[in-house]
Amino acid sequence: MTAYAKIPTPSGKLALKALQTIARTRSPLPALEVFHGELGKVFRANLPSFKPIMTAGADWARWLLVEARESFLWKAPKDPIARLLRDGLLVADGETHDVMRRLMNPALHRNALTGYVEAMWRATDRIAEQWQPDQTYDMLPEVRKIALLIVMETLFSIDFMPHIQQYWAAILHMLRYISPGIWILWADIPRPNYRRALRRIDDYLHQIIRLRRQQLAQNGAQPDDLLGILVAAEGVSDAMIRDQMLTMIIAGHDTSTGLLSWALYLIGAHPEAAARLREEVDALLGDAPPTMERLAQLKYLDRFIDETLRLYPPAHLGSRIAAQDLTHDGYLIRKGERVTYSIYVTHRMAEYWRDPAEFCPDRFLEKPVPYSFLPFGGGARNCIGAAFAQVEAKVILARLVQRFNFKLLQRDVHMHMAVTLEPRPGVFMRVSRR
Ligand code: HEM
Repeated sequence: MTAYAKIPTPSGKLALKALQTIARTRSPLPALEVFHGELGKVFRANLPSFKPIMTAGADWARWLLVEARESFLWKAPKDPIARLLRDGLLVADGETHDVMRRLMNPALHRNALTGYVEAMWRATDRIAEQWQPDQTYDMLPEVRKIALLIVMETLFSIDFMPHIQQYWAAILHMLRYISPGIWILWADIPRPNYRRALRRIDDYLHQIIRLRRQQLAQNGAQPDDLLGILVAAEGVSDAMIRDQMLTMIIAGHDTSTGLLSWALYLIGAHPEAAARLREEVDALLGDAPPTMERLAQLKYLDRFIDETLRLYPPAHLGSRIAAQDLTHDGYLIRKGERVTYSIYVTHRMAEYWRDPAEFCPDRFLEKPVPYSFLPFGGGARNCIGAAFAQVEAKVILARLVQRFNFKLLQRDVHMHMAVTLEPRPGVFMRVSRR
């Protein structure tokens, strides 16, 4: 019989140290660094009814995402995200996943992005036009609005501007429902606000699908977008379209909200980097709106975005369920166990990054070690929206830097673990036109 190493668990003393770290940093993520620092790249969390195997580092990420990919399931049916998104791409497994991914890929592929650039800067302008001169704004909800307008316009040809206020609270309720929380220990906790919010959003999505089907039946034509692909596909039900739309709305806007709000925070906190961004944008764009061709030349902006994603990865953790007994690195993982990989910890390991806590966009002048930089996951189930998100972030940040000065009024923020990693209490900035 093979002897496997025991997966370490934190001692009481280490748990206390982690609690002190949480109290000091107001975030559980630095505590995860404490656990990995003491126990190594793998350990088992030891909460009353939640004992996942937590991993970090390039080797475990490559194994989980590529080498052993077929032996893991994505869907944990009791997780709120699976209950909300049902057969959505993010949580589906097997053939459903592969068929839907192939079907939707063209709408998010690099080739489609050129057609989205104008919608991206126009959405930025529409929200920015509402800002009053020299007023203070929390930039997190502001960039959330921009990201929502963009997803709805580019993927579903919907002008969401008149509906933002109407659905804002429902969207936030859904996000709260799938954020880490007490459900980890108590899955069936009642959530009346969430149920109401879900009904509102479901009604809205089904109305959009109905109208699109009518349009197709009447004209034989419809907009050339992701919704068009789904509606035209044979055998794809309204329920399945709803699942994919909601997945794209949630996964496609909340992550970008995290990235953009941290990027604006860093612009405010690092004036020298902000000055370099401004110089580059002024030299390459002048007053003109961004185009795909010009975006490709904004190299410092690329590094700035990568460094933001390294320090504050919006999706900071991936989670899988072992579909069979497995072994890796001398450890036995039993069928049904949850295994996670920490993007946050991997992005801050001294093994891969010099002065990991420092903000230094130019570190990306060198290529990172494979699988040490994973903001969009990796392998065949990496982020389908990665190229979209990168172009979107460049367009929005270039447009904002081109037209506004931002002064950060509160430097003291902490990393809040919502669905994505958010700066809390917010990114309060005084905004003035240049
Ligand atoms: C900064 C922005 C974004 C970040 C950091 C991000 C991050 C990620 C990560 C890490 C994964 C893999 C999760 C895992 O391994 O379990 C993922 C998957 C996914 N993302 Fe993104 N994402 C971003 C933007 C987007 C956008 C714009 C869309 C859609 C418009 C999108 C849609 C998805 C979907 C559908 C999946 C599941 C793919 C699959 O399993 O086949 N994401 N994302």
